[in-house]
Amino acid sequence: MRRKILKSFKTKYGYFSKDGKEYIITTPRTPRPWINVISNGDYGITVSQTGSGYSWRTHAQLNRITRWEQDLIKDEWGKYIYLRDEKGNVWSAGWKPVCHEPARYECRHGIGYSVIESLNFGVNSTLLMFVPNDEPLEIWKLTLRNQTKKTKQLHLFSFFEWCLGQSPDWHREFHKSFMETSYDAKLYALFATKRLWEIPTDRGHWNADWGYIAFHSCHVKPASYDGDKETFLGMYGNQRSPEAVRAGKLRKRTGNLLDPIASLHLTLTLEPQEQKTVCFTLGAAGSKDEATNHLKKYRSLDEVDAAFDNVRQRWNDLLSTVEIDTPDEAMNLMLNTWLKYQAISGRLWGRTAYYQTGGAIGFRDQLQDSQIFLPIDSERTKQQILLHARHQFQDGTVYHWWHPLSELGLHNKVFDNLLWLPFAVTNYLNETNDFNILESREPFVDDANMASLYDHCIRAITKALERFSNRGLPLIGAGDWNDGLSAVGLEMKGESVWLGHFIHRLLGDFAVIAEKRRDEEPARMYRERAQRLNEAINTHAWDGEWYYRATKDNGERIGSQSNLEGKIYLNAQTWAVIAGVADHARAEKVMNEVEKNLEYKAGPLLLYPAYKTPDKEIGYLTRYAAGMRENGGVYTHAATWAVIAEAMLGRGEAAYRMFSKLNPINRGRKPDEYVAEPYVTSGNIEGPDSKFYGRGGWTWYTGSAAWLFKAGLEWILGIRPTYAGLVIDPCIPAAWKGFKARRHFRGAVYHIEVQNPERVNCGVKEILVDGEKYAENCLSSKPALPVFEAGSTHQIVVTLGRP
Ligand code: GLC
Repeated sequence: MRRKILKSFKTKYGYFSKDGKEYIITTPRTPRPWINVISNGDYGITVSQTGSGYSWRTHAQLNRITRWEQDLIKDEWGKYIYLRDEKGNVWSAGWKPVCHEPARYECRHGIGYSVIESLNFGVNSTLLMFVPNDEPLEIWKLTLRNQTKKTKQLHLFSFFEWCLGQSPDWHREFHKSFMETSYDAKLYALFATKRLWEIPTDRGHWNADWGYIAFHSCHVKPASYDGDKETFLGMYGNQRSPEAVRAGKLRKRTGNLLDPIASLHLTLTLEPQEQKTVCFTLGAAGSKDEATNHLKKYRSLDEVDAAFDNVRQRWNDLLSTVEIDTPDEAMNLMLNTWLKYQAISGRLWGRTAYYQTGGAIGFRDQLQDSQIFLPIDSERTKQQILLHARHQFQDGTVYHWWHPLSELGLHNKVFDNLLWLPFAVTNYLNETNDFNILESREPFVDDANMASLYDHCIRAITKALERFSNRGLPLIGAGDWNDGLSAVGLEMKGESVWLGHFIHRLLGDFAVIAEKRRDEEPARMYRERAQRLNEAINTHAWDGEWYYRATKDNGERIGSQSNLEGKIYLNAQTWAVIAGVADHARAEKVMNEVEKNLEYKAGPLLLYPAYKTPDKEIGYLTRYAAGMRENGGVYTHAATWAVIAEAMLGRGEAAYRMFSKLNPINRGRKPDEYVAEPYVTSGNIEGPDSKFYGRGGWTWYTGSAAWLFKAGLEWILGIRPTYAGLVIDPCIPAAWKGFKARRHFRGAVYHIEVQNPERVNCGVKEILVDGEKYAENCLSSKPALPVFEAGSTHQIVVTLGRP
């Protein structure tokens, strides 16, 4: 099915490669750092187009390997390679830190790797950076070619600062006192250890070793090395022009009592047109023996190449289980490659980026993200679900987030968190029909006794149902999905209308699950509660033109026409549709209001107008600058729900329009306005109340990636998993002639072709399965396709049309 991508969406900063799997940046001076987040699920690195970035293992904040400080303007923390020729010219393999003006510069961000290629002083350098599958290290493969007619005598110096533990290590003078470096001449490697880690132990705080040994080496014998920042940079020196690089030699200082860095010095001669490759590794192993094994392995360039091939293979396997081919190439690019990659590498594995360096696991966040794996490898979604189940307390409440490694978490009164467990389970069951998952047994944070996953889910729902106001609406506590509504219900009186919608949806979903298990009592009770909740919302939470968003502890409305700021909120409308709380007329009405009041050039705003004055009774949302993030920006995670709501109403033009506005490729067509990467979603795009209206930010680390993928695949293309089987119910722009898709479902492969001869938005007139008529005139019935034997491949042709 794969056809060549014709459009590269070129701007003055870059373009997509022909197969869409690389974004090629043509200048180091993009309007913000445009990065890649590369992770194998444990070890990871960020790389920006300037060549800067950082490394971590398991947890980007608690276990940072190299130092980095968040400064998106300077972007000058990283792991660098300096080059110096026989004339004393100095440059670096990335543009930073030397910032020599290269004759040619290109940074290619790929799936699982980045490459920076540049030409300086007649030397072409190609630096490939990647993280092998299943090993705690990164590889930098540097290939140098002499493009001149003269022999080049080159000196190479690697350089970075060790962090080894919690980041930022803002009290460097304290932290460096526990660190020690050494050089092993046989292994060509620098090692670094630290005798202190911030993780608390039974012998108190700050009383543990950092549990790893970090290493940095080269595949050929270095000429020299250094482990000291003072000798490398020079006292009062800087990394743009380090003393050691100017002098052309390193001072071999290692041990403790230093400000520890790593630098290896190599010399090489390049005859005219000659090309040579050197490979560096950097990583953190559990022991010296383990490190030694890695180092010995990567002495071989063949092993380096094999490791890189394996990385590409793994990503290809992951990304190829769903592919689409629609008339919209920007949509194809995002769904086929980049949204999946962002959700997996950035959100689930790395959990860090440039705008937010995280590492923790958000209870609601990574459960939502793990939806990305459903059509790819549902076992991984299952593992995520079970992991979160173990982070639930006996009473059904959960951590807001917790830290892998330390297992410390935040147990707060944000009242939606616990419900994302049954939400994710419902989605998993629709994909797999694997009801055995409900019997999986997991402990609680505060009780080692195991309980079934079903029990974990029931406890979450039971707890949520206890926290209601006497009008029958859920309390918001210290927040709901919208973390910034952090003070609305601190006195346990304020209510959340969005949470009401969400609970309504879950009650319906879980009633079905309980019935399938013949657990009649909860099923009956959930249906009855859902009915009451529906009435309560439609009676008490209707503001006249739309649903208001919440009530404060004092009963005042938020998101109401009676407010001067924050008059209308998006989630209270979209989820009224998604959760089936609004009847059809109201559903149409509220989405009309969304289009009228909230939809701007970058999609629907989270609320409007933005708050200009902080409101202590609402929370930190009102403290962001007006038009930014949750305060009147397009909060892309929530904006994807507008796509879904429109599609649910059959409004194909609006659904597609919203999708296209959110698509970062389209936003990136005005790169100086949007400023953010055009190949991954941003967390927010500033709204009309900001003087930088249209500016994107908080890229990579956003829940919008998995949701935008879902909105596109399941709601615009309409390829949705249900218990009974895959349903094809597209809601597309009428101008489309049709589209194709290939999707794995319960082990079988479905080749789907949708034809739209009458140019409608939705409505299935006929379905052919393997050439035979399967169903016709299913305009409202939405029949599921047969569930086929695993391993088989089938052709589905769906024709849309009017009744
Ligand atoms: C952040 C949080 C997420 C929350 C969202 C909206 O992205 O990580 O959990 O739902 O903000 O406030």
